[in-house]
Amino acid sequence: MAHQILVTGGAGYIGSHTTLALLEAGFEVIVLDNLCNSSAESLRRVKLICGKAPTFIHGDIRDRILIDKVFAENKISAVLHFAGLKAVGESVREPLDYYDNNVTGSVTLCQAMSQAGVYTLVFSSSATVYGEPLQMPISEEFPTGVPTNPYGRSKLMVEELLQDLAKSDPRWSIALLRYFNPVGAHPSGMIGEDPNGLPNNLLPYVSQVAIGKLKELSVFGDDYPTQDGTGVRDYIHVQDLAEGHMSALRAIVQKTGVDIWNLGTGTGYSVLEMIRAFEKASDRTVAYQVVERRSGDIAECWADPSKAAHELEWKAKNSLEAMMNDTWRWQVNNPNGYVND
Ligand code: NAD
Ligand code: UFG
Repeated sequence: MAHQILVTGGAGYIGSHTTLALLEAGFEVIVLDNLCNSSAESLRRVKLICGKAPTFIHGDIRDRILIDKVFAENKISAVLHFAGLKAVGESVREPLDYYDNNVTGSVTLCQAMSQAGVYTLVFSSSATVYGEPLQMPISEEFPTGVPTNPYGRSKLMVEELLQDLAKSDPRWSIALLRYFNPVGAHPSGMIGEDPNGLPNNLLPYVSQVAIGKLKELSVFGDDYPTQDGTGVRDYIHVQDLAEGHMSALRAIVQKTGVDIWNLGTGTGYSVLEMIRAFEKASDRTVAYQVVERRSGDIAECWADPSKAAHELEWKAKNSLEAMMNDTWRWQVNNPNGYVND
């Protein structure tokens, strides 16, 4: 029988692309998602793309009875854990929701895994755990910093609790994947990022301005010590992230302990460079105006991806142009995301 992989949050943006990659590689996939920030339509699209569907369980990672049942009724060998809340601003307003979903949810999941004897876990972490590093590029040896918001703190707490767990029991095999800035969509234009309401992140905002849904982009500050004064980030195509998860999974099934890998490209682009690249891909003008800096933002952030290159034989392959073209295709084909109205 094929290996069964449990994907929490598998209906979401990164989870749906990774679910597709797993199915294409021959894994059996069980998605557990409460759909609080996604639609089951993403999984129907996954089936349209590859002809295979994951088993979908509509449920919550904090529901211990449900998770015990999922492990009891299946032969799950590993868990990819994407489920969680991710909006930085919302986390400041609703911190308890963030600690409950992200931290309590991860604790409950690990308790259920331990009881079921499943010790292989890939966790979606974030470059936010580095805080504000003194130099670039950021390698995994850099100390973790002080995240500026409850979302970031919840990610760091989960990383730390997973480190403690692995120290307490040598059977655990855990990958902490620190994503830089995920963007893009599947090249088919059928699955992509479907933000709820006003987008928080740069590229979904730019893309909605280009299509005319939003009037103009606010560029948060042009007085940073960067090449053009705007913030610099390491944008990585979601398809490369999906491949990175497959590589991490293959690596950790052969060993135990905790491994940390940056998933980034190693190249930073400024907000203005991103706008220009999107204008080229979409052949539209992206109206913008420069406003005050956004509180909590850092000037620049890009990865040293060499550890993942050596240890996982994984490298991000997609160019900035591909990130932009694929985002635009998804936007044009799905002007209202997964809701067809
Ligand atoms: P997403 O919101 O699209 O996906 C998260 C999924 O988890 C959603 O489908 C949501 O419905 C589900 N979910 C949330 N709480 C749940 C719960 N308690 N039980 C079951 N399901 C639940 O977000 P994404 O961009 O795909 O991010 C996936 C993971 O990667 C998250 O953990 C996020 O923090 C992390 N991450 C994302 C980014 C980014 O910029 N997108 C960057 C770094 C890390
Ligand atoms: N930006 C704008 N206008 C916008 C949105 C963003 O100018 O409307 C700028 C930001 O100031 C920043 C860059 O675009 O310079 C990228 O901003 P995003 O919000 O897209 O991404 P961040 O780097 O701020 O945050 C991302 C994830 C977080 C994660 C963080 C650190 O969204 O979850 O990376 O890794 F915590």
